[in-house]
Amino acid sequence: MSELNNIALKVIGKGKGILAADESTGTMTKRLNSVKVESSTESRLTFRETLFNSLGMKECIGGVILYDETIKQTSSKKNTIPDLISSMGSHPGIKVDTGAKILAGSPNEKITEGLDGLRERLKEYFKLGAKFTKWRGVYNISKNYPSKLSIHSNAHALARYSALVQECNMVPIVEPEVLMDGDHSSKDCYQKTSEVIKRCFEELILHKVDLKGIILKPNMILPGNKSKEKISSDEVAKLTLDCLKNSVPSDVPGIAFLSGGQSEIEATENLNLINKNNNTDFIMSYSYGRALQQSALKFWSKNIKDIEGTQNVFNHRAKMNTLAAQAKWSKELENK
Ligand code: 13P
Repeated sequence: MSELNNIALKVIGKGKGILAADESTGTMTKRLNSVKVESSTESRLTFRETLFNSLGMKECIGGVILYDETIKQTSSKKNTIPDLISSMGSHPGIKVDTGAKILAGSPNEKITEGLDGLRERLKEYFKLGAKFTKWRGVYNISKNYPSKLSIHSNAHALARYSALVQECNMVPIVEPEVLMDGDHSSKDCYQKTSEVIKRCFEELILHKVDLKGIILKPNMILPGNKSKEKISSDEVAKLTLDCLKNSVPSDVPGIAFLSGGQSEIEATENLNLINKNNNTDFIMSYSYGRALQQSALKFWSKNIKDIEGTQNVFNHRAKMNTLAAQAKWSKELENK
């Protein structure tokens, strides 16, 4: 088995999942301000370090995606953040894109940037201890979108990024996120997500990316958040599995979903049903940001000194998702 495949399996195998703690400073500031906490280098580190030191981290989290600021920070016990994460039995990872900017030629859409100088930045992150990386392409659905141009250009960037990451002996997380925003139907989401993912794999193959050494991070198939359509979690699971079975090559070891604005419980329930009905060979796990941290952040903001209490809230969410990644979750467990 290749080294990259080993890393991918350690990150999302055996029911483990990924903590996406890679919010940019701007996004993290919004999250902290929403719970009335001032955003500073210290407050961002304190909250994150609280999660990294938790039991849930040890038992459930196989990888943590960091932001540039955090991977270079030192914990209150004076070890580096990547060392702290490794000491908890997890792999440190790093977001390496520099954000989504307006796409020239289609100004209502975005193209993710960050390829210039990427090879050098990757070397630096590798030295700091990163074992995997993340790049997010973002697509919105409406009548004429995502356009062919956005599907093509984001797939091209994701593939060039992935090839550079593997050259530097790290596992690329390939994240094409078709956004939940809008009034589109689940059928639209299914069609557009299939088109986006298929195009990504065409480019990944063209760029000679070893598919056994990547993790795909897609959205689940859902109706838009402004759509009147309501579908059951069983239907979400069925549509998501059908979409991925038809668009992801079988060499890919695993899929780790983003939560994308779903509530914590929705994200867990849908993942559980995906695993219950999983008729593929793919590992199906989680790479959640909001759906892992929301309650913990809220608790912490009101009990800023209560490290253990904050960790307990996080431990619970991490455990629920790790059970869901093994099809062992049930609603009753939420209240235990
Ligand atoms: P959410 O789970 O909050 O969607 O975040 C995942 C992520 O990493 C988005 O890039």
